[in-house]
Amino acid sequence: MRSHHCGEVTESHLNLEVDLCGWVHRRRDHGGVIFIDLRDREGLVQVVFDPDYQEAFSLAETVRSEFVLKVHGKVRPRPEGTENINLTTGKIEVLATALEILNKSETPPFPLESDIEVSEETRLRYRYIDLRRPLMQQRMKMRRDVTRHLRNFMDDHGFYEIETPFLTKATPEGARDYLVPSRTHPNHFFALPQSPQLYKQLLMVSGMDRYYQVVRCFRDEDLRADRQPEFTQLDIETSFMDEQAITDLMEVMIRELFKRTLDVELPDPFPRLSYAEAMRRFGSDKPDLRIPLELVDVADLLSDIEFKVFAGPAKDPEGRVVALRLPGGAELSRKDIDYLTQYVAIYGAKGLAYIKVTDRNAGLEGLQSPIIKFIPGDAVLEILDRVGAQTGDLVFFGADKAKIVNEAMGALRLKIGHEHGHAKGAWAPLWVVDFPMFEWDDKDQRLFALHHPFTAPKCSLEELQWEPQRALSRAYDMVLNGTEIGGGSVRIHQTEMQEVVFKLLGIGEEEAQQKFGFLLNALKYGAPPHGGIAFGMDRLVMLMTGAHSIREVMAFPKTQSAWCPMIDAPAEVTDFQLRELGIRLRKPPTEPKGD
Ligand code: AMO
Ligand code: AMP
Repeated sequence: MRSHHCGEVTESHLNLEVDLCGWVHRRRDHGGVIFIDLRDREGLVQVVFDPDYQEAFSLAETVRSEFVLKVHGKVRPRPEGTENINLTTGKIEVLATALEILNKSETPPFPLESDIEVSEETRLRYRYIDLRRPLMQQRMKMRRDVTRHLRNFMDDHGFYEIETPFLTKATPEGARDYLVPSRTHPNHFFALPQSPQLYKQLLMVSGMDRYYQVVRCFRDEDLRADRQPEFTQLDIETSFMDEQAITDLMEVMIRELFKRTLDVELPDPFPRLSYAEAMRRFGSDKPDLRIPLELVDVADLLSDIEFKVFAGPAKDPEGRVVALRLPGGAELSRKDIDYLTQYVAIYGAKGLAYIKVTDRNAGLEGLQSPIIKFIPGDAVLEILDRVGAQTGDLVFFGADKAKIVNEAMGALRLKIGHEHGHAKGAWAPLWVVDFPMFEWDDKDQRLFALHHPFTAPKCSLEELQWEPQRALSRAYDMVLNGTEIGGGSVRIHQTEMQEVVFKLLGIGEEEAQQKFGFLLNALKYGAPPHGGIAFGMDRLVMLMTGAHSIREVMAFPKTQSAWCPMIDAPAEVTDFQLRELGIRLRKPPTEPKGD
């Protein structure tokens, strides 16, 4: 039907006759001449309808936004002074000699400009129109470019793409499973995979050596800007490579990706931080290294003072007291600080003490603070020295259980760092390594795997059993600008070790057999040492396109309440279907709600 894409016609086509197909982006009537910006995936081109070509002109008078047209015409230069340097097609226009309306359109529910103020629910309800917007088309293109590059890299490095089942059994990645009832096995359910973790390990036992898959994963968890119930991983596993070799190869892959698609040079090598250091300096296991502000421990100076707010956590082995310096922060008003105090309260902080440094050379006289009267002067001055405070700075304090301090002060660090212009550079990737194997959960009174239960420890079997809470794992996360874009580990490849880890996690022998018997068996038949990683494709593309949510880079995402307004899913099913599955509903189904 067409000879060129709209967005591809340039000066090199001058005087050529072209056939173009696309949507009416905009129509303007200019005293006897009609201009239509015709749009397709590749961009816009200006089409001119002149009354000389009467038939096409009259038809052009009837077209509206989003009509689908086929235009035949001749490429000519735009008159001097009317060129648009922002468009690839900006130097030319197409004089239409024939026009065919391929389809009409109702007035779209929202304009197709890039910056539109429309609720997300409306955008998702009419996603097929939302995706026509040039910005969304660019994002889909970036997604395709990224996937293609990564697939090529995998293929070039000897990885086989192998598909693994979606109808499977629970895989513990820490979220709830989506269950699928089986008709042929009444009362039994498949689980949709939270990741292909166990299958990819079995593929290593099968001697596939190197596997990858661009694969959908399903997790029923609380959703956020960077979490969706179904999302895409680049999932990778290799045999006979240790963590250094795996992370080195993955770094090369991501560096090449950024160079080729964005012309960005990422650091070589990526910095590495241990989990302990990341928590200590940034209060987070996915620190945004663009922000140089750091948490500084001061508990040692405050454990013997009267002020309980600080002394309590300073003495508590599970407590933490930190100072965070905001350069130039002394200009913050009382109202600003109250606002930040409310902000840290979201993370459970009970307050936000601070010291304003109005004159660093004037000792205690040069400070303003609601708390220095409770702290010995020499301790105050030592804290200021330790954080490197200067005139004009503000020092915040967080004191509580370490978990609360890390979350609250880590979040504050990000907020004030970005809002006060301290972020440096556009891209800050790093590896976080040396995660603990386990985390103790007070509520459930048991250990949880920090990565997943198939991750190998750095220590021996004996050491692991002796002091499981001190054991570190052979896991690694790739973090970019404060987002975890990938995570993986070297796996346990010996049955004894796997059995011990299950036991430490409170999974009894019977349960281990029932849930993971196939894995424990497979490990007995010559499982090679192996390890891998999975990247969150949606998150990676979100960062690379500068989008604020992974929903912006997925063609058909769900809302925050895991609902699709367009097709209205999830939906009720018929009694007949339920009966066939042997399912009786306990409660009448409620209508899915918007967010
Ligand atoms: P993990 O659970 O860390 O590891 O997931 C790997 C990466 O997937 C992305 N991700 C998500 N993206 C969008 N929405 C979600 N709900 C979501 N959950 C995770 C993140 C994360 O880094 N099997 C292991 C990998 C391995 O050990 O090889 C796994 O799935 O970017
Ligand atoms: P209070 O004695 O509760 O009035 O608190 C005195 C100052 O300490 C106020 O500025 C509070 O915001 C601050 N503060 C209270 N609790 C904490 C805490 N857990 N961490 C940091 N600052 C706190």
